[in-house]
Amino acid sequence: MREPPPNAPPLRDYLPFGKPDFGDREIEAVTRVLRSGWVGMGPETMAFERELAQAIGSPHAVTVSSCTAGLHLALRVAGVGPGDEVVCPSLTWCSSANVALYLGARPVFCDVDPETLSVSPATVAAALTPRTKAVVAVHFAGLPIDVAALRAALPEGVAIVEDAAHAFGGRYPDGRLVGTSGNACCFSFYANKVLSTGEGGAVALADGRAADEIRSLRLHALPNDAWKRFTHPKSVLNANLTRLGYKANYTDLQAAIGRVQLARQGEFAARRAAVAAIYREALDGLPLAFQRDCTHPRHTRHMFVVVLDEGARTGRDDLLLALRARNLGATIHYEPLHAMPLYNEAREPPRLPHTERIARGILTLPIGACVSDDDAREVAAAVREALG
Ligand SMILES: Cc1ncc(COP(=O)(O)O)c(C=O)c1O
Repeated sequence: MREPPPNAPPLRDYLPFGKPDFGDREIEAVTRVLRSGWVGMGPETMAFERELAQAIGSPHAVTVSSCTAGLHLALRVAGVGPGDEVVCPSLTWCSSANVALYLGARPVFCDVDPETLSVSPATVAAALTPRTKAVVAVHFAGLPIDVAALRAALPEGVAIVEDAAHAFGGRYPDGRLVGTSGNACCFSFYANKVLSTGEGGAVALADGRAADEIRSLRLHALPNDAWKRFTHPKSVLNANLTRLGYKANYTDLQAAIGRVQLARQGEFAARRAAVAAIYREALDGLPLAFQRDCTHPRHTRHMFVVVLDEGARTGRDDLLLALRARNLGATIHYEPLHAMPLYNEAREPPRLPHTERIARGILTLPIGACVSDDDAREVAAAVREALG
């Protein structure tokens, strides 16, 4: 990190863009599981899955080692394979596209809507070809898209897999909770997420057969997991493997944290809402745009992003450095994927005008369970000062 400029206020502790809030209850829950002697995937994971499904209102919730693993398995269960194309935004984390490559398919990048910063029926439609097998629909920053409208714009047989890494607890425009659309919907419980278990994720889905497939594939496609073998001592390890699975399961240590974090969602949402409201008000009138509905209750406020105007006197990178120099952990989500060497396959990258403009100006401000009102005011004042 750069040294602060000489006229900067005294250094304060670094304010990360997203830090989890783990308290005594999470520590007690982990201790309880440690003392139980069973730390792998077992009864605690099963209880967390039941509570998750209930909280989301989804018939099934299957935990996995990460949202990336969930996206991978959901696409695999949707039948994605070599020769297929998977449409996804370029303005996203690499997981959303990498999972197509894992399966021998090709990610095809689409543009985003300039107001929601997410894919829309129109931007996805522009990227469809007869080879399109699935769409990875990212709910950017925690603003859920209209998946029913997206479904209506897709030919029959094209699957939607929702990348809801940012959107646990969010609501679609019709008010239903994210994860109840009928699509496979993948959440992340990574360190900085709305519900954090350090690492981990879950897939919410309505189709029981697909849920069983993901349950099987997440653990080597074994007929019996370790807990089943332990609790039914007469059942020996059935090693008669018939197909290739993965090692993408969750653990009871994580589930213990998750159950507490799930119960604390109201508290976390209120904190994020307060911070978003402060930013929205304190940054008004500056040469920047907000994501649509950035303070609306249906938005999870996993990220609070602003997009600097092209003509702003201070550039985005200078603004980022000015905030970092004050130990304020602003960051960039995202560098667009379509121009990265991994994905552009030596061909001309697609023209994605909204993505390219937004990516030049986008900045994420600190938000989360550990960001106080005073922190938010300090960040907003620093942005205002840097933008002159
Ligand atoms: C949009 C998006 N999709 C997928 C992921 C992957 O989540 P995980 O780290 O749980 O695999 C992330 C991670 O931050 C993300 O931001």
